[in-house]
Amino acid sequence: MLKADYDYLFKIVLVGDSGVGKSCLLLRFADDTFSENYISTIGVDFRFKTLTVDGQIIKLQIWDTAGQERFRTITSAYYRGADGVMLVFDKTSRDSFNHVQDWLDEVNKFSEKSSKLLIGNKQDSLDLTQIEEDLGKKYAENKKMHYIETSALNGNQVSLAFEVMSRELI
Ligand code: GTP
Ligand code: MG
Repeated sequence: MLKADYDYLFKIVLVGDSGVGKSCLLLRFADDTFSENYISTIGVDFRFKTLTVDGQIIKLQIWDTAGQERFRTITSAYYRGADGVMLVFDKTSRDSFNHVQDWLDEVNKFSEKSSKLLIGNKQDSLDLTQIEEDLGKKYAENKKMHYIETSALNGNQVSLAFEVMSRELI
């Protein structure tokens, strides 16, 4: 029998409003690249990425869902069986932060037991910030989630976010 080349396999789903940077976060984590061009995701997409956390080899299957309303019925099917859910908002968009609760409610309909992690992305856009770190942190604490601020643009804390998510699951 073939020995698996990893210790754990987890299914992770990225959710949040359209334009918050879900696809860019995945691209940064998987390929260490970034694109300014905005190509809105249609339906869902996924990538595998393996990382080592606390000496354990963890293979992540990461699903990148479309934030646009018209794909909601397709994407919700992918929440089922998720081990971890990354709820992403854009620090330069108050609306996207206000919608986090809606995303959480939606996800919980399908995978209540999954671990949740709150991500405030576009941390690099300091001049445009609408949601300060304290606010994100407080909301997350209230919901017993970790909170991490990331930048898919410069890569800041992107790997960390996936490490924290993995550590929650092992
Ligand atoms: P949907 O697929 O429609 O749900 O959107 P999405 O959440 O996947 O957003 P996407 O990753 O496509 O990024 C949207 C726009 O934000 C793009 O123009 C990106 O270049 C930009 N962007 C993403 N992440 C960052 C970031 O960390 N900083 C800055 N400044 N821009 C970002
Ligand atoms: Mg996308």
